[in-house]
Amino acid sequence: MTTNHQVRLAARPVGMIKRSDWQFTEEAVPEPKDGELLVKVQYLSLDPAMRGWMNDARSYIRPVAIGEVMRAGGAGKVIASKHPKFKEGDIVTGAFGVQEYAVSDGKGVHKVDTRLVPLTTYLGTLGMPGMTAYFGLLEVGKPKEGQTVVISGAAGAVGSVAGQIAKIKGCRVVGIAGGAAKCRMVVDELGFDACIDYKAEDVKAALKQHCPNGIDVYFDNVGGEILDACLARLAMHARIVICGAISQYNATGGMKGPANYMSLLVNRASMTGMVVFDYAERYGEAAREMAHWIAAGRLKAKEDVVKGGIDTFPETLLMLFEGTNTGKLVLGLE
Ligand SMILES: NC(=O)c1ccc[n+]([C@@H]2O[C@H](COP(=O)([O-])OP(=O)(O)OC[C@H]3O[C@@H](n4cnc5c(N)ncnc54)[C@H](OP(=O)(O)O)[C@@H]3O)[C@@H](O)[C@H]2O)c1
Repeated sequence: MTTNHQVRLAARPVGMIKRSDWQFTEEAVPEPKDGELLVKVQYLSLDPAMRGWMNDARSYIRPVAIGEVMRAGGAGKVIASKHPKFKEGDIVTGAFGVQEYAVSDGKGVHKVDTRLVPLTTYLGTLGMPGMTAYFGLLEVGKPKEGQTVVISGAAGAVGSVAGQIAKIKGCRVVGIAGGAAKCRMVVDELGFDACIDYKAEDVKAALKQHCPNGIDVYFDNVGGEILDACLARLAMHARIVICGAISQYNATGGMKGPANYMSLLVNRASMTGMVVFDYAERYGEAAREMAHWIAAGRLKAKEDVVKGGIDTFPETLLMLFEGTNTGKLVLGLE
């Protein structure tokens, strides 16, 4: 008997997630029935959104139930199939959950080609975070050549891609990230024009220096004080993309909202929320264009692969909230 190790939600966290919020279970690897496939999960996608799915609150997706295997995107190999579209040996991505083996009916499972990019890139730049960056920036931010684009969470999965796409579109791009090393990487490796270290610099003063004509597009991954600082520096008709607010996800006293919102009125600006799943029908189009950019050396896919195994899932997930990941955080299960 082969054992499937799983991580289930044991309790709804208060503030930062604790190890005791998880339950570790094991069961026999199931046999796929007719119309199903069995996947050996090789990599798990760790995402800030997981923190929201643990709350019992209305959102764009239902909360994970207590006792349920934690929801997670993953990538792996089909090891048995009774599904007409998949065969043993296929390499696939899908919502497999935090477990080593997953049975699936094939919905939302995609075959991927690992000859050109590593499998982990399908969880990052060519996966959900890359799609978020692509559609959030281009469809909601609508940057024009020569405009100034500011991206928070600039060294992360979404931010690193959004900033590089803005550069490809001919914008001046200013990142915001935590720490000198991340800021150096964002400028030297990813080609941003500047990067503000929000842990060491006065963000408002730095935005004034780097965005002398104001901000045309602000791609917000963090919310909180950084959102407020950007609101105070908007150009006329600016667009703010509300992609995420990671600085607020573990808040115990309620979320801190923007105080400087009257800047939207003064500058005839807009602030729009986006959810990547709304663009699901167009993922193929975005993946094709981004794959071309990767092949041409114009887009660098950055992944932070932790080869820790499933037992380290709780601690590895916390890297997102501690800022110790650079690029897409992935947990290797083998
Ligand atoms: N709307 C959508 O459909 C959608 C889809 C995917 C992701 N998102 C959102 O996009 C954002 C980025 O996600 P990701 O997957 O790319 O994660 P990520 O940026 O790779 O990782 C999270 C990063 O957030 C930063 N961070 C953590 N705590 C912070 C704080 N208190 N203040 C400022 N920065 C903080 C850290 O970087 P530093 O070291 O720079 O602090 C950390 O590395 C998240 O808000 C996520 O919820 C939204």
